[in-house]
Order: sequence, then structure tokens, then C-alpha cells
Amino acid sequence: MIATVRRARKLEGTIAVPGDKSISHRALMLGAIASGDSHVRGLSTGADVASTAECLRALGVPIDGSQVGGRGMRGLRGATEPLDCGNSGTTMRLLAGLLAAQDFESVLVGDESLSRRPMDRIVDPLREMGAAADWPPLRVGGTYPLHGIEYEAPVPSAQVKSAILFAGLYAEGRTAVIEPVKTRDHTEVMLAAMGAPLGVAGLRVEIERTEELQPLDLDVPGDFSAAAFWLVAGALVAESSIHLLGVGVNPTRTAFADLLSSIGFPIGRSKPRLEANEPVVDLGIRPVFDLRPVRVDASMAARMIDELPVLAVAASQAVGTSVIAGAGELRVKESDRLAAMEAGLNAMGADVVVEDDGWVINGPRRLEGARVDSAGDHRVAMALAVAAMIADGTTEIEGAECVDISYPGFFDHLEYLA
Ligand code: S3P
Repeated sequence: MIATVRRARKLEGTIAVPGDKSISHRALMLGAIASGDSHVRGLSTGADVASTAECLRALGVPIDGSQVGGRGMRGLRGATEPLDCGNSGTTMRLLAGLLAAQDFESVLVGDESLSRRPMDRIVDPLREMGAAADWPPLRVGGTYPLHGIEYEAPVPSAQVKSAILFAGLYAEGRTAVIEPVKTRDHTEVMLAAMGAPLGVAGLRVEIERTEELQPLDLDVPGDFSAAAFWLVAGALVAESSIHLLGVGVNPTRTAFADLLSSIGFPIGRSKPRLEANEPVVDLGIRPVFDLRPVRVDASMAARMIDELPVLAVAASQAVGTSVIAGAGELRVKESDRLAAMEAGLNAMGADVVVEDDGWVINGPRRLEGARVDSAGDHRVAMALAVAAMIADGTTEIEGAECVDISYPGFFDHLEYLA
């Protein structure tokens, strides 16, 4: 599908972004091995979370709306066909951790993009734990029991951390993951709420073998990474005023908001509350004046990895040179996001120079509508749509249906706000 996006005169209104994708995957997977039914309201409506639900159904887990039929720690049964993770790295990596510890073998497959993404980062530690694990194609499980390890993760990745912790629930002794940078901690928050023996000390997380997990009863907060597109759009389009209801603001997710605030974005937070043991607020955004350039290094990049494509759009409007470095992980996301954003923004008249692990962006540049390619990547499609809202004329975004991966209503929200 080609999405046609015109320059927006202003963006005004109140919306609720979809349920958090990371929390949704974890609630389904951990709910599946809990002792009893979980109730998880407000799950992400995106295709990635639907992939997780489908895989779990194939493993014998009844999922009906917000109800997840927990099968207990040993209640999953082997699927008859390979498990299709679609476009979802989180589905493949987290499920691999869980399934590596089962007494049956599982094969996990995905679409073309997912089949290209690195899986050695989970295969290696799972093997160290004594699991059978091979890739490609990804094949795990059938050899147990596993044993705990101390794992110093070479890349900051919440997916890798979570996969090891999931396997650690079944491993003899203690399993510890030491991260180079603290990544999103939804797995830790949820496991603790379910009664797992989990310890967190700085960058170290450890877990012990667990016989039983309590079921969940929670409302999934709105996805901060989806809200991020509107934070930038609302600040760049003159006279805008956008309110985002019920957005999760777990501090391991909001480094992007802190960075935007530090360069002048007027982001308001109201009605602080807790949902699913996670902090939630309503966010408000108004236009920014005198936007300053940004500097992002590796530790910052890891904490705002999914927001970097739309940060590039903001940087194209800042007065001066922005340097975003230490973001080589963007090359192995759903697309090569460094290349895809450089191509899209430069086609619209921006001045983006791509480096090995980031961009140098000179601003401000007046953007012009153009025909651009999403590279089949939901975050690239939405970031380019934000650029299109401030570009003269009309922009056509190829492959825009990929927004359904995390935010099926994105273009409806755009139409409503504009
Ligand atoms: C996710 C972790 C991140 C992120 C992805 C979701 C998660 O990936 O990019 O969208 O839910 O754990 P990495 O952990 O591989 O950086």
C-alpha cells in the first residue's frame, strides 16, 4: 500500500496509542506458563503480538481476547508445524528462551526480514546453559535439564536478557545476566509480580529455577515507542496540541522523552498512576521553538533504540549539526534503519550522512514531499510519515501497510489529528 501524507496545518486532539508491544509479548508468554488463567486487557493490536498469540496457541495455550489459559511451567506441548514468528524478533527470541527449556524440540521461522536477523546472540548463551539450540533455521529444545550461567551480554538487548531469564526459570542453580547498559526491564517487573525468585542489582539480573508462577491480572499501558511519533509530530507541526492517554513511562523506556525535553520540547506529564506495576501518565505535547541539535552516544542509543528513526526527523529541523552514534544495532532491526532513514529523509531534502553506527544530520532543512520507501519497516514508515507532515506538498510512502506490525490505527489517528 502507498500512503499519501500531506503537510499538516496543525495536529489537534486526544488519542490512546496501542498497548505496549513489549509488555504484551511478555504477558502472553508468561501467562502461558502460569498456574491458572491470566487476564491481560489492552494487549497490543499489532501483528507482532498476534504472531506471539498464534505461536502459543500452536503450543496448546488457549488465548481468547484478554484471557490467557495458563498451562503451568510444564504444560506446553510441542507444535506439529514450525512456529511462525512473522516479522517479530521479540516473538522469536523470547519464545526461543522459553522453548529451549522444554522436553520437546521446536522450530521457529519468520518472514524474510526476520530470517536475516541475528539469532546467534540467543543461540550461544542457550547452548552454554546446556540447551539444544541451532540456527539457521532456529531449532531449540528437547535436551534438559539446563543449568544456570553467568552471562555478560556483549550487546545491550532486552530480548536476549529476557530469553536467558525465561530459560533460567527452568535451569538448575542460578542464572545471571549482566548487561552493558540497562535495557527495558518489563520482564523483570512482570516476573517479580508473578512471584518468581528474581534479584536485580544495577546491571545484573538473576533468577532461580521456579516451580510456579502466579497468573496475571493487568491493564497493558500505552506503548511509549508509538507515542514517540506524536511527540515529534506535535512539536514540529505549528499550532499543534496532542494529548496521549495512558502511556507507559517505565524509566528504562523514556530516555527519548528526556532527550527531547533537554533540547526544548514542551512535553507535559499528568495523572501519574501505576498499571501492571509500571508507571503510566497522560502525555501532552505542544510546538517547539528554537530546536537545538542532539548528541547521542552508545549508552543513550541503547535506551532509545526504537525511537531513533523519528529522532532523525526531529534532528533534520534542529539548528546545527546533530550526531547520533553508537547505534549500529539499527542495521539489524526489521530493516537497516540507518540506511532506510538516510534514503527517505534525503529524498525529502534533508542533509543526513550515514556512518557505520549512526547519522550526522545538518539542520534545519525545509523538507519537500517525495516518493519514499518504508523498507517494509513499521518504524521507518511512521517516522517518514512524521517527516511528511512537515514537508511541503505530498509524500507517498511505499509499503506503508507495515505500520500494522505495531500500530494498526496509525493513519486513522493521523487523519483524526490533522
Ligand atoms: C524489545 C527490545 C528491543 C526493541 C524491540 C522490542 C523487547 O530489541 O528494539 O522493538 O520487547 O524486548 P533488542 O532488545 O534486540 O534491542
